[in-house]
Amino acid sequence: MASIWILGGGSIGSAVAKQKSDSGYAVTLISRRSRPVSEQLDQRVIVSWDWSDVIEQLESLPIPDQVLVTNGVLWSDKMQPEKRTQALSQESLLNSFSANVLVTAACLQHLSGRLKRDSHVTFMSISAKVGSISDNRLGGWHAYRVSKAALNMLVKTTAIEWQRRFPQCALASYHPGTTDSDLSKPFQQRLAEGQLKTAEEAAICLVDVLDNHVTPETSGSLFNWNGSRLPF
Ligand SMILES: NC(=O)c1ccc[n+]([C@@H]2O[C@H](COP(=O)([O-])OP(=O)(O)OC[C@H]3O[C@@H](n4cnc5c(N)ncnc54)[C@H](OP(=O)(O)O)[C@@H]3O)[C@@H](O)[C@H]2O)c1
Repeated sequence: MASIWILGGGSIGSAVAKQKSDSGYAVTLISRRSRPVSEQLDQRVIVSWDWSDVIEQLESLPIPDQVLVTNGVLWSDKMQPEKRTQALSQESLLNSFSANVLVTAACLQHLSGRLKRDSHVTFMSISAKVGSISDNRLGGWHAYRVSKAALNMLVKTTAIEWQRRFPQCALASYHPGTTDSDLSKPFQQRLAEGQLKTAEEAAICLVDVLDNHVTPETSGSLFNWNGSRLPF
């Protein structure tokens, strides 16, 4: 039976977990709380997303065929996306980095120590189009953009190393398109009709890209929700 680890059980993470489980995958879903997604899932509750807690969770699991990291933060009670550079703070930058980069980094570090030369793992981390530097025409959202750009670089750099060490593995970062979730809720008003995906629609697109587009030949790419490639 094919298997997948899904880190982060928010809207998109849970919808992908359900879809993968319905298609016969053995799914391990890691989140800070248990969610009513499907009884077939192996749900693991993680104390926090700190580096050492992530490693401790993963150590007990057999290496899967696929890994998806869905963690991300754009805003919180204490942090709003910046409109200008003056609004930046140490706290918002560190929180953004922690949520948007460190979970993927801890996961990749852990996998790098356990994979073998003939391992065959497909890895995807959810990024965002606003993390593309060359596509940035609007500015704003400094901490989120910076951390997603760093995430893309982390995935690309790891892909180069893995091509040498684990040539049958593949990695990608991915833009899901604007999707209804807590993360996007405050920013949905100005969207044109039809621009907002449900989490289930987003999951269908993501699974198609994960299963069919992330290969050793494309490893390191930033994929758009429809399978096309975005510029860094
Ligand atoms: N929704 C969109 O329009 C949109 C657009 C572009 C990119 N994305 C990206 O898509 C991914 C999934 O987002 P979503 O829309 O499904 O949002 P969501 O429902 O708010 O889920 C957010 C996820 O991030 C995790 N998380 C929250 N705070 C964290 C922290 N401080 N440290 C580490 N992890 C934390 C949560 O973990 P728990 O499971 O433990 O709660 C949850 O799994 C994110 O990476 C986001 O940046 C979303």
